[in-house]
Amino acid sequence: MKRFLRRFFYAFGPRSRRWVRRGVYAPVDLWTLLRHGGRPHYNGIPLPLPGEIFTGGGDFLANGLLFKQFFQDLGGLQSHESVLDIGSGLGRMAIPLTDYLVSPAQYRGFDVVDVAVQLCQKRITRRYPHFQFAHVALVNDLYTLEGSSADHFIFPYADHQFDFAWATSVFTHMERHEVINYLREARRVIRPGGRFLATFFLVDDIARQAAQGGAYDFSVQRGEDWYMDAEVKGANVGFAPGHVQLWAKETGWSAAQVYLGRWSGRLGETTDFQDIVIFS
Ligand SMILES: C[S@@+](CC[C@H](N)C(=O)[O-])C[C@H]1O[C@@H](n2cnc3c(N)ncnc32)[C@H](O)[C@@H]1O
Repeated sequence: MKRFLRRFFYAFGPRSRRWVRRGVYAPVDLWTLLRHGGRPHYNGIPLPLPGEIFTGGGDFLANGLLFKQFFQDLGGLQSHESVLDIGSGLGRMAIPLTDYLVSPAQYRGFDVVDVAVQLCQKRITRRYPHFQFAHVALVNDLYTLEGSSADHFIFPYADHQFDFAWATSVFTHMERHEVINYLREARRVIRPGGRFLATFFLVDDIARQAAQGGAYDFSVQRGEDWYMDAEVKGANVGFAPGHVQLWAKETGWSAAQVYLGRWSGRLGETTDFQDIVIFS
C-alpha cells in the first residue's frame, strides 16, 4: 500500500505533489483543527497540519522531540552551542529546540524549498529571532526542479561557525557526489571538536535481505548506490556503510559512529527509523 501511494505521488512534479497532498489530507487537516480547537502549537509556534507536511511521515512533533534527545545523547549538544540545520524543511528539528538553545547559541537552517523556508521565517523567526532560515536554489528532483546542482554548493556560512550540525532525512534524498560535498562543507563550517549528525539508509546485504518485499525495498541499483524509484532519484537513496566511512575520512572527519535504525526490519541495534551517523 505504502509503495502504491508513493508511486501515485511520484507521478506529479514536486510543486503539484505538495498540492495533491493538501487535497488528499484535507479531511485529516479539518479533523486536526476541530480536535485541537485550531492549529496545535509548541512553545507558541503553530505546527504544520498533516497536509502541509511534505517532509516525511510519522508524528511531526514527536519526531522532533526524539531528535532533540538524540542531538544531546548521541551528538553531545549543549544548550549554549550554535547549530546548523541542513535541509531544515518545515522546522521539525528547529521548533523543539526553541525552548532549549539559549544565548549565545544561534540556530541557522537552509533548505531548497522556498515555501518551507518562508513558513519557518514567519512562524519561528518572528518569535525567536536567533533562529534564522535561508533558501538556497538547488535542484532535487523530489523537492524542486529549479536551481543548480548541490555537488559544488558552498554553504553560506563562515569556517568553524558552528559547534554542531545535522542533516535529518536529507542525505536519504541526495546522490553520492552531493553528499560528499555536504560532508566536506559541514566539516568546514563546524569548529574543530564539533559534531555532525546525519541520517542515512545504510544498505548492506543484511539490510537488503531484511527489507526485501517491504515498503523500503531498494530495488534499483545505479553504480554502487541503491535507489527506491527508477525515475525520481531523490525519492530515497541508500549507500553502502563502507562508502560512508570512506567519504568521512576523505572529507576530514576522524570518526563516523553508526547507530543502526529499524527501516529495513533487521533485528539488533536500533535508534530511530533511519540509520544515524555521528561524524566527529
Ligand atoms: C525528508 S525532508 C526532511 C526535512 C527536515 N530535515 C526534517 O527532518 O524534518 C528533506 C528535506 O531536505 C531538503 N533538501 C533536499 N535536497 C537538499 C539540498 N541539496 N540542500 C538542502 N536541503 C535539501 C528538502 O527540501 C526537504 O525539506
